[in-house]
Amino acid sequence: MRILVTGGAGYIGSVIVEELLRAGHTPIVYDSFLTGHRAAVPAEVAIVAGDIRDTALLTRTLAEERIEAVIHLVGLIEVGLSVTNPAAFFETNVGGTMSVVRAMIETDVKRLVFSSSAAVYAEDAPLPLREDAPTGPTSAYGASKLMVEQLLGWVAPAHGLICTSLRYFNAAGATARNGEAHAPETHLMPLVLRAAERDESVSIFGTDYPTVDGTCVRDYIHVRDLASAHLLALELSAPGVTIYNVGSGTGYSVRQVIEMARAVTGRALPISERPRRGGDQYATVATSERITRELGWRPQQSDLRTLLATAWAWRQAHPNGYAE
Ligand code: UFG
Repeated sequence: MRILVTGGAGYIGSVIVEELLRAGHTPIVYDSFLTGHRAAVPAEVAIVAGDIRDTALLTRTLAEERIEAVIHLVGLIEVGLSVTNPAAFFETNVGGTMSVVRAMIETDVKRLVFSSSAAVYAEDAPLPLREDAPTGPTSAYGASKLMVEQLLGWVAPAHGLICTSLRYFNAAGATARNGEAHAPETHLMPLVLRAAERDESVSIFGTDYPTVDGTCVRDYIHVRDLASAHLLALELSAPGVTIYNVGSGTGYSVRQVIEMARAVTGRALPISERPRRGGDQYATVATSERITRELGWRPQQSDLRTLLATAWAWRQAHPNGYAE
């Protein structure tokens, strides 16, 4: 299949592109390169540089590249930033997706795989989270993802679109080729590994949550396992919106992540306890039974040691990230 990957130069997108190539598909990357990296895109992959809200460019790209499916990853992702600058999140995440959908309608492209998030769920939803658990985002980031799912719920049946919304839990880990290099970096694992490299301390945001050790619990999913869910979703054929959680089913606290990082890196990693970070939910853990049952998806690399070890190996091999 010829597949447009928006955000294909980003952390998750670059690994999806790797997996698409491996499976014999033809990915085409659409990216603004504001946060994506050209070096993350293999030389044989066509690149279109553009803003996601440029509907004319998207429409032209879908037509000229004879696109059969879109994997739409472009979006602002920092939960904390979305609390202080919510408008930007609605513009890029909701407005940007509408632009993709409009271009798809214009060009009769039917398949869409959308990057949604665990951040759509209500804080008091029972764990592990099922897809039918109550939603109730605590950040504009989560709200923007939920709005997209809702708008797809109206648009997909009206236009015969086959949409899959994958609710990512916390992407982590690396392949040999691609890893996590955000600027600024806000995510726990890369910050912990950076602290290990520099012999610095690690901040823990909040130590008084009602969890096993007072720190937030997250369900970390290896980026390659996440990528494989997208490839399976491309095979769906029922019009409408199908929602799947993509998580490992196991939660780890911030302290547990740091403890394992000490084991993997051999560094001391002293801790600096900080106040809670705005917008954080105290615990998110998935059940991914639905995608396992319906698409046969199973995580292969999402145990805590492998997540940290693969990310650590990538950092050691790429000490300057993508800035070669
Ligand atoms: N944290 C620290 N110290 C740090 C960085 C993070 O204690 O230096 C804590 C955070 O407060 C949070 C946990 O580690 O409790 C995980 O934080 P991340 O920023 O790594 O991830 P989030 O859970 O906030 O968000 C991520 C993605 C979202 C996605 C979400 C799904 O950024 O896009 O996971 O759960 F929606």
